[in-house]
Amino acid sequence: MSTRPDTFRTFGRAKGRTLTASQEAVMAEHWPRLSIAPGEPLPPAPLWLEIGYGMGSHVLHLARSHPDTNIIGAEPFLNGTAKVVRGATDEGLSNLRLFRGDVRNFLAEVPDASFGRIYILFPDPWPKARHNKRRLIRTAFIHELSRVMKQGGRLTFASDIPHYVDWALTRFRSHQRNHPGAGFAMSERDPKQPPDGWPGTKYEAKARREGRTPYWFEFVREG
Ligand SMILES: C[S@@+](CC[C@H](N)C(=O)[O-])C[C@H]1O[C@@H](n2cnc3c(N)ncnc32)[C@H](O)[C@@H]1O
Repeated sequence: MSTRPDTFRTFGRAKGRTLTASQEAVMAEHWPRLSIAPGEPLPPAPLWLEIGYGMGSHVLHLARSHPDTNIIGAEPFLNGTAKVVRGATDEGLSNLRLFRGDVRNFLAEVPDASFGRIYILFPDPWPKARHNKRRLIRTAFIHELSRVMKQGGRLTFASDIPHYVDWALTRFRSHQRNHPGAGFAMSERDPKQPPDGWPGTKYEAKARREGRTPYWFEFVREG
């Protein structure tokens, strides 16, 4: 395993149950059209990115409710990917592309100032201290987000784990201090209120069932 902190694996599993024959068929037919590879030309602006869409309810909601915006979803989990491919196909969504894998590999090939919005909704919490290093929100990653985000672009981050919230806010603030004019300024809002039109996500529902409170934060890319 690599010892570079920014290369620790940040996700749990990349595959669950074997895909059904019908999921396999949908993937075989539609994946080539829906997928996007690192370095491929990006769809035109307005362009938004959702990182770690899980089973995909929010990324499908974004594509459905913003038909004139191009949406990219990045997620390593095959079963979630297959679900989104089926949803996008059933609904005839033509503004959604998917990268399957670690978003850091995708972002490495993305030109500066590409995205108007980025969503990171309930990233894996890695609550044990010895696993904290696997958290997606790290200083180097925030720096990469600030590079690919347009000036004035909006980043939404959600978590239900107070320790992760503190961890993330500390890193966003310190990045902002160290990169004047190119950081993320936190917007004033009630973090317990979901963003307008929030459709809910599978992970959020589980967090609530288990008695945890979700928090949402919005940041504006300075510049
Ligand atoms: C706790 S789940 C939340 C899923 C979804 N956002 C929701 O709210 O239901 C976190 C998701 O982030 C994905 N993830 C973790 N690290 C990632 C990475 N480096 N690139 C892309 N996705 C990642 C995981 O595979 C997982 O599906």
